[in-house]
Amino acid sequence: MERRRRLILAIFVAFLFALSSARELKVKHRPKDINNLPIYNHTLATILVEYASAVYMSDLSELFTWTCSRCDDLTEGFEIIELIVDIQHCLQAFVGVAKNLNAVVIAFRGTQEHSIQNWVEDLFWKQLDLNYPGMPDAMVHHGFYNAYHNTTVRPGILNAVKRAQDYYGDLDIIVTGHSMGGAMAAFCGLDLTVNHKAKNVMVMTFGQPRIGNAAFASYYSQLVPNTIRVTNDHDMVPHLPPYYSYFPQKTYHHFPREVWLYNIGLGSLVYRVEKVCDVTGEDPTCSRSVSGTSISDHLNYYGVELMGETWRSCGIVMDPLVKEYGKTDLKGNFALSKEPAMPILKLKTEANDGGSRV
Ligand SMILES: *[C@@H]1O[C@H](CO)[C@@H](O)[C@H](O)[C@H]1NC(C)=O
Ligand SMILES: *[C@@H]1O[C@H](CO)[C@@H](O)[C@H](O)[C@H]1NC(C)=O
Repeated sequence: MERRRRLILAIFVAFLFALSSARELKVKHRPKDINNLPIYNHTLATILVEYASAVYMSDLSELFTWTCSRCDDLTEGFEIIELIVDIQHCLQAFVGVAKNLNAVVIAFRGTQEHSIQNWVEDLFWKQLDLNYPGMPDAMVHHGFYNAYHNTTVRPGILNAVKRAQDYYGDLDIIVTGHSMGGAMAAFCGLDLTVNHKAKNVMVMTFGQPRIGNAAFASYYSQLVPNTIRVTNDHDMVPHLPPYYSYFPQKTYHHFPREVWLYNIGLGSLVYRVEKVCDVTGEDPTCSRSVSGTSISDHLNYYGVELMGETWRSCGIVMDPLVKEYGKTDLKGNFALSKEPAMPILKLKTEANDGGSRV
């Protein structure tokens, strides 16, 4: 009994310490450059995780009209203007306008191609095999890079962001995604900033793998400083591909800023801690302080489910109502598209014969 009480006390002290060290970090760096530091906003995180969850839905008609089962709650009223399905590479993303955030929101789906187990095992072996263009010494993995840069996803997104901004004026841009979708979100945020001179780009990812080396992380954090990388407890994926601290130049390296979610406590005395980590990207006291052994911690962030309804399926479900907003390229890749602020009015009961392309 005594031992148990001491343990609870120790945990409680650790909890207070975790709280105060998180706060200290923020304050310590704040005077240096207030504009260059991402401020972690819990409310915003709980909203964005719902977008990262919704993009997994496979009924395109429900997604496009924002009526899917994950399309309510904190994301109510969202207006999708572009929904991209790269069938060839099994990727899915959308762009829309969240008026309550005064922002364009871009969300990428995580991998859907294999079982999650296989995908995670493959992550271990990813090589740093591509020089990031225009950034000397910056190396990334070609697969993550190409998923964003070398598919139908990128042109669809850039075009939609432009349409949204032409119509609504200068909205902020928030890019989000879970797992592999987080990797794509990071490349997208960087692309918008570097190649399209976008201002006010914010990136928030959930359970994202490492995507590049230390040089890449350093460029990235200077160019897209407003980035939060949320990791959950023992989630395996943020530990991959591996980081070897004794081999700093050749190893993968996370960019900042991690926010690590974890539980402390015992029995019914469990506290949820959200720890804002240091500016290195590889804070040894955050997720790196535990072993990444959990897949279930990968699939649920803030109580929100982050996975597809079925694995091994890139299939799409779509009723004819929304077909008329769609276009398909020669390889079968698909996009649904509409002008900002235009209600989805012309719903017909029969499939359009393809004459009406938006
Ligand atoms: C956090 O984000 C929410 C949602 O965007 C916003 O309403 C709130 O003002 C933000 N809080 C701070 C302290 O910036
Ligand atoms: C882009 O994809 C094509 C076909 O998948 C491939 O041949 C090409 O090498 C890729 N480009 C880069 C830069 O990897």
